[in-house]
Amino acid sequence: MLGPYDRLQGRVALISGAGRGIGRALALGFAAEGADLVLCSRTAAELNEVRTRVEAMGRNCLTATADVTREAEVEGLVDAAIAGFGRIDILVNNAGATIVAPSMDLATEDWQRVVDLNQTAVFAMTRRVAREMIARGKGAILNIASLTTFVAFPERLAYASTKAAIGAMTRVWAVEWAKSGVRVNAIAPGMVATALQERLAREGKFDVPAVEARIPMGYRATPDDLVGAAIFLVSDEASYITGVVLPVDGGFLANGFWHPTP
Ligand SMILES: NC(=O)c1ccc[n+]([C@@H]2O[C@H](COP(=O)([O-])OP(=O)(O)OC[C@H]3O[C@@H](n4cnc5c(N)ncnc54)[C@H](O)[C@@H]3O)[C@@H](O)[C@H]2O)c1
Repeated sequence: MLGPYDRLQGRVALISGAGRGIGRALALGFAAEGADLVLCSRTAAELNEVRTRVEAMGRNCLTATADVTREAEVEGLVDAAIAGFGRIDILVNNAGATIVAPSMDLATEDWQRVVDLNQTAVFAMTRRVAREMIARGKGAILNIASLTTFVAFPERLAYASTKAAIGAMTRVWAVEWAKSGVRVNAIAPGMVATALQERLAREGKFDVPAVEARIPMGYRATPDDLVGAAIFLVSDEASYITGVVLPVDGGFLANGFWHPTP
């Protein structure tokens, strides 16, 4: 765990999908840097565990079991955050999910579910939060993209489409709001060992040894491996950086070779 370097001291950060995995690691990492937090996910027990740890670090933490695909719940969450803390300085759009199926077998409802969560909910949340950031003339938004923002993973059509869209949305917002003091960036995690991947591995849809052989560093990331890049991009250290999608991938995208690396 990084910190405490106080790089986010006095900041209020809203993180979606913060109950486990990458969102949870970002929440704990941001708290260690001094941020107060507004966290949402669907599972109260997971959120309570994170809140207990955040409060033990002396930070304030507001949690809500909001479903980010429901605009009314997003409105309620943002209203509660502003009522509680007065503002939101940092937004992390982290909640996301995938479905693995051959494109020919992908049901329209499953496609739509992934689009609703990974893309439309990011649009609605960001529009709501950015309005207030633009009015104050300052804010940092971090989207969680993916390797599929850049390259193809077969049988993940809906996921890859939405994550490519996240790259586009990051760039459009960055340019549109550049003079408003609102920066918009993304990180593209490589292969991260989280519940999402463990489920796919159990279902036989993700071959861990084969994937790790493709990664130059030779192993999957833990959620903690993403924390430093995220803190950097939302902190004032990145004050002149907007519109980038930063891979945090152990060298995956740099590697054009298909054999296991030495
Ligand atoms: N695990 C990886 O290898 C990997 C790689 C690249 C990108 N990502 C991205 O990172 C993000 C987090 O992934 P993870 O692996 O930590 O996932 P995860 O499944 O472990 O955690 C997802 C979190 O999002 C929450 N969530 C899901 N749907 C929600 C909804 N409708 N409303 C509110 N919260 C909701 C869950 O409750 C959970 O807290 C996702 O956007 C994912 O696409 C993951």
